[in-house]
Amino acid sequence: MKQFASLFYTMQTVKYDKLADIVCDLITEENMALVCAIVNQKGGVGKTTTTVNLAAYLATRGKRVLLFDLDPQGNATSGLGIEKDKVELSSYDIIIDGVSLADCLQETSVRNLKVCPSNINLAGAEVELASMDNRENRLKSAFEAYSEAYDFLLIDCPPSLGLLTLNALIAADTVLVPIQAEYYALEGVSQLMETVNTVKNGLNPELDIFGVLITMFDGRTQLANQVEHEVRKYFGDKVFKTVIPRNVRLSEAPSYGQSILEYDKRSKGAEAYHKLSREVIARERKYNKK
Ligand SMILES: Nc1ncnc2c1ncn2[C@@H]1O[C@H](COP(=O)(O)OP(=O)(O)O)[C@@H](O)[C@H]1O
Ligand SMILES: [Mg+2]
Repeated sequence: MKQFASLFYTMQTVKYDKLADIVCDLITEENMALVCAIVNQKGGVGKTTTTVNLAAYLATRGKRVLLFDLDPQGNATSGLGIEKDKVELSSYDIIIDGVSLADCLQETSVRNLKVCPSNINLAGAEVELASMDNRENRLKSAFEAYSEAYDFLLIDCPPSLGLLTLNALIAADTVLVPIQAEYYALEGVSQLMETVNTVKNGLNPELDIFGVLITMFDGRTQLANQVEHEVRKYFGDKVFKTVIPRNVRLSEAPSYGQSILEYDKRSKGAEAYHKLSREVIARERKYNKK
């Protein structure tokens, strides 16, 4: 009897989940276009994992998604199966030489998802930018000149608050901040918020925090639960309901050049990013109405 009850419960959850998906897709407006920078100056907090997998799930929901790799490490590029060392035109060429975004975009194995790749060339860009005209606005200009339609443009930022990240904050409508549920989770966050506010009070008054995402959460530890509590206290309803669990499949997928959707869509990590994509679309809709 207990087993039946549990089976029925699972069927119900699956059904409502599917229903929620369908409703969510139906109510999503056609003409939205959101530029979202995935930012946290700390390395290893889940920026790239979030950018790649969120992008993949948004794309499979029919959204036209561009992923802009703004990190010289090019992990989002290789994580989507593109050999970064063989890339001819990359984000470096856009930012430094004014090459058009359309010329750099590459198709991926996920339908509706294109990527602007990056590689180690970008490592020199911070220094080169420093002496250039209009150095903070180069990415914004590139996006403005792009005439194809898209729904989401996600920027995978490097782990610093230098000129590259500044370009992202000026080109973006919103910011998504992944926070790792670990020791010192909130360390550096106030500095990040100060930077966002400085940009908002100056060069990009429209900039907004789209959401804060708790990543690599291990619910068995007291620490992770404490961190979640702290993050929710600090950011309130900006924090996504979806929490990304620590899941080894998520860390394996990039070495196969695949998003979690292709690598193991039944894993806990895949489920979480799938759920996140639904929350992002729902939030986007509200955001567009503002
Ligand atoms: N939820 C997760 N569970 C397990 N490993 C993860 C998870 N998210 C990210 N990782 C792994 O942690 C490391 C850092 O993640 P990454 O997304 O590259 O962070 P960042 O882009 O902020 O530097 C990578 O090896 C990645 O595969
Ligand atoms: Mg990264």
